[in-house]
Amino acid sequence: MPLRARRLAAILSLSVLGFGLMGDLAVRAEDAKPAAAASDDDDKPYKIIDGKIDFGTFNGYRRFGDNCARCHGETADGSSFAPSLVDRLKTFGYDHFTEVVINGKTENVGGVQYVMPSFGNNPDVAENIDDIYAWVKGRSDGAIKPGRPDHLDKADPRNNK
Ligand code: HEC
Repeated sequence: MPLRARRLAAILSLSVLGFGLMGDLAVRAEDAKPAAAASDDDDKPYKIIDGKIDFGTFNGYRRFGDNCARCHGETADGSSFAPSLVDRLKTFGYDHFTEVVINGKTENVGGVQYVMPSFGNNPDVAENIDDIYAWVKGRSDGAIKPGRPDHLDKADPRNNK
């Protein structure tokens, strides 16, 4: 086969594979919908009311900015120091998140050690970990935009609904 044709054949078979995968994923997403829709709302650790996030989640945004942003970026999208939490929170939930933040973790990527410090002895983090999780989860879900969010007042009763 001439080189050109061979390359075309390779591209074609790749895109066939790609479409096959996409079809598969689409079907699986359809299958998952009814169950996910019911539980998703209950599971959300943040509230968004009239475009404003609840005060606890806003507190999480501020604590994240103070303690995590220097490595994970102001938007939680990651930096050269640490991975994107927007991405990683698509693969694990609250339990793993809190475990890692309290105890820390190291990762070896191609011989380079990346260190996630432990925050178990840092009350600013440990006592606000649910709020921090809520904000990062909202970022990961695409529900909370980057930057300083509009938020409900601390005294607003809708925070606790
Ligand atoms: C000194 C830099 C640094 C700071 C500050 C930091 N992290 Fe990390 N974090 C890392 C690195 C590096 C990793 C990747 C290490 C790994 O996955 O083993 C990581 C990984 C994580 C993970 C994912 C672990 C996994 O299993 O994928 C979570 C969740 C996390 N950090 C949350 C936080 C939170 C919340 C804060 C603030 C309270 C924070 N980090 C502050 C460097 C940092």
